[in-house]
Amino acid sequence: MSIGYSAKVMEHFLQPHNMGEIADADGIGEVGNPVCGDVMRLMIKVEDEKITDIKFQTFGCGAAIATSSMVTELVKGKTLDEAEQISNQAVIKALGGLPPAKIHCSVLAEEALQAAIADYRSKHPAEPAVTES
Ligand code: FES
Repeated sequence: MSIGYSAKVMEHFLQPHNMGEIADADGIGEVGNPVCGDVMRLMIKVEDEKITDIKFQTFGCGAAIATSSMVTELVKGKTLDEAEQISNQAVIKALGGLPPAKIHCSVLAEEALQAAIADYRSKHPAEPAVTES
C-alpha cells in the first residue's frame, strides 16, 4: 500500500492534521483537478495579517490528503505574505518527497492556499497607506 510513499506522507495520510471545517472562516480556497476529480478546500482565520487557524477538507487521494495536512502545518502562525511564498515544492520537501505521478496533488495544496489568501484579501482590502504630509 505504501509503495513509493515516504513515512511522513503515510503519517499525514493516516492521521491528518487540521482536518475539518472553520465555520466562520475569513478566507476559503477551493480548487479541483479536472483530470483526477479530486477537490481540496482550505479555510483560514486571519488576525493582524497572520494566519491563526487553518483547516482543510479534501475529497481526494492519499497524497492529496497528506499534502493538505502538511500545508496547514507549514502555514499556521505565518503572515499572509509568508504563507504566499509556500510552494508545492516546499510541501513536497516537508513530506520527504512524493512519487512523480503524485506531484500534481501537491499543486492542489499550493493552489488552494493561494485561493484562500486571495479570497481573504478580496473580502478585506488593505487600508490605504497613511502618508505623512
Ligand atoms: Fe489527483 Fe491526488 S490523484 S490530487
